[in-house]
Amino acid sequence: MLIFIILLVIFPWFLISLICIFARQHFDITMKILSIEDLEKIRESAKSALCLREVSNKVVAEKSCGLACGTKHLQILICGGTGCKASSSHLIAENLKKCISDAGIIDKVDVITTGCFGFCEKGPIVKIIPDNTFYIQVTLEDVEEIVKEHIIAGKRIERLLYVDPKTEKSVSDSKHMDFYRKQKRIALRNCGFIDPENIEEYIARYGYSALADCLLKRKSADVIDIIKKSGLRGRGGGGFPTGIKWELTNHQKADVKYVVCNADEGDPGAFMDRSIMEGDPHSIVEAMTICGYSIGASQGLVYIRAEYPLAVRRLQVAIKQAREYGFLGEHILGTNFGFDINIRYGAGAFVCGEETALIHSMEGKRGEPTLKPPFPAESGYKGKPTNVNNVETFANIPIIINKGAKWFASIGSEKSKGTKVFALAGKINNVGLIEVPMGTTLREVIYEIGGGIKDGKKFKAVQTGGPSGGCLTEKHLDTPIDFDNLIKVGSMMGSGGMIVMDEDDCMVSVARFYLDFTVGESCGKCTPCRIGNKRLLEILNKITQGNGTEKDIQTLQTLGKVIKDTALCGLGQTSPNPVLSTLDNFYDEYLEHVYDKKCRAKQCKSLLTYHINPELCIGCHLCAKKCPADAIVGTPRKPHTILPEKCIKCGMCMSHCKFKAISVC
Ligand SMILES: Cc1cc2nc3c(=O)[nH]c(=O)nc-3n(C[C@H](O)[C@H](O)[C@H](O)COP(=O)(O)O)c2cc1C
Ligand code: SF4
Ligand code: SF4
Ligand code: SF4
Ligand code: FES
Repeated sequence: MLIFIILLVIFPWFLISLICIFARQHFDITMKILSIEDLEKIRESAKSALCLREVSNKVVAEKSCGLACGTKHLQILICGGTGCKASSSHLIAENLKKCISDAGIIDKVDVITTGCFGFCEKGPIVKIIPDNTFYIQVTLEDVEEIVKEHIIAGKRIERLLYVDPKTEKSVSDSKHMDFYRKQKRIALRNCGFIDPENIEEYIARYGYSALADCLLKRKSADVIDIIKKSGLRGRGGGGFPTGIKWELTNHQKADVKYVVCNADEGDPGAFMDRSIMEGDPHSIVEAMTICGYSIGASQGLVYIRAEYPLAVRRLQVAIKQAREYGFLGEHILGTNFGFDINIRYGAGAFVCGEETALIHSMEGKRGEPTLKPPFPAESGYKGKPTNVNNVETFANIPIIINKGAKWFASIGSEKSKGTKVFALAGKINNVGLIEVPMGTTLREVIYEIGGGIKDGKKFKAVQTGGPSGGCLTEKHLDTPIDFDNLIKVGSMMGSGGMIVMDEDDCMVSVARFYLDFTVGESCGKCTPCRIGNKRLLEILNKITQGNGTEKDIQTLQTLGKVIKDTALCGLGQTSPNPVLSTLDNFYDEYLEHVYDKKCRAKQCKSLLTYHINPELCIGCHLCAKKCPADAIVGTPRKPHTILPEKCIKCGMCMSHCKFKAISVC
């Protein structure tokens, strides 16, 4: 009887277990992770695939190029970031898979789509593992050759390798490229390394172990203490200490609290946050959940612009997978803590990146900022305590928990710890996404990582901090980059846009460009920003059109300072920075525009004069035919002339003259 009862109890349990194991193996049904041991098991099973990527070194590279030399398994990593996708990297990936299948080597070679490798200028990028060959600017036409020559025959394709401009030698491993040598990838640790749509690859890189560590071993106050001790400061622009913000929200008494991830990223030219979400979305999901645990929130919201469809999709996939594995939802990791994340879409207004405007936008109201205090930590989304952090800030959280506050605090400068991601753009040889320790100098970024100025031109300025920042010059190049140093020299870190300018850039036009942007993006709520910035823009237009006076320059200075002091939110308070910093550093260019009616960079159209050199002109009459204003006169085979009163300065004549007889000054 007893045996019968035991069998009756055990048998169904045994049967259910068998069904579960069978279902998991055959129907890809995932089990909820309930313990560190469960997590460890997944890590172990996924580790071997990543090991191959981690062990790549010179010896491995030489020994294991292609299947011909006996390599058992190869991986082809292809960048699936927006930049490379725009150059058809997704089609390249499909073709690679097809070619591999046609060659009958599908069981020996995996094709894995990753996030951005950083060197977007050279995309689409394809990396072969384990020999670590880094192919650049790969096209659909290269696919067959890569499979036949490299994957099967084991011969590297020279023409697809990066050529070091200094040594003029090709470099096959990205580790030896100047672009990567000085970088330290913490926030970008998984971008270009794992498949962002595969949670198990994230787990294999110690993903979700920080969450397990916090939930299963630490009190919320201890987690906050780690973040405080790490010295992490917000990467969204303000540089506010993250641990202190978490503590403030934790101290609020409320039935509901929220965690918000600010993924608005409205600065022109910035793509740091987008790349993190595209390349490592689970790090954001994990960090937001840790934040929820620390401050006592059960709901997370990601505010992301709808113009980031790939980032949105990768986040959606990550959230779904995290729910399936039990990292989101009720009873996370078998505890009493529950947390979930939803996505809210922005329509791409720069002002909606400001945290109070962002919260209003999420509430369905107009995206207008309000005065602080109260801070969102006290009264945010739906009037409840809300912790708002930037994407890059969140990306640092899991690794800080895993490696410790001391480790993170040992990187960077005295008051700015860790690293910063920058979107390096403009007149620079190596355009892309970089991450450097705080304290790295502008010179190192521009000349070593960025490879110097394009076409051997002269460096003129570097703009940091986007529309809120300023333009720095040669004399600032040895400034170690951190939050406080950049403010001291008249710019700011902002969220990480860095635009390099050369001798062909007009600094008055640069100031005009940024102001034009902020005028268009101002919400119009307060007078200094709505009207003051318009007046600044009008004056800049007047100067670039050759109608400015010295009094206008003085007005730019006084009005700019008034706007900074009186505008309601950060947008208005920082919008005159590009004007004021160019006035500080390039005052003589303003004077030239005003007194000499000259633009030395030849960018201000109204100040240009086109001229035909009679000694070079053969009188072919082509320029006269192309001139849309009938401003060129002359008889055939005799030197022609331009009538300044008719010339609309379109430049057509100059681009068509084959004899270089037309110049502009
Ligand atoms: C006009 C304006 C735009 C902003 N845009 C962003 C943005 O796109 N992303 C962001 O994280 N922070 C942005 N901020 C800063 C946020 O208000 C807020 O300080 C930040 O999200 C807090 O996160 P952090 O402490 O992690 O930096 C913006 C601020 C202003 C004034
Ligand atoms: S400073 Fe500009 S963006 Fe900010 S509230 Fe005023 S008008 Fe709106
Ligand atoms: S195109 Fe050049 S060479 Fe010909 S008429 Fe014009 S300026 Fe002279
Ligand atoms: S710049 Fe344009 S308008 Fe002036 S002369 Fe040349 S073609 Fe004619
Ligand atoms: S998007 Fe491919 S390297 Fe940046």
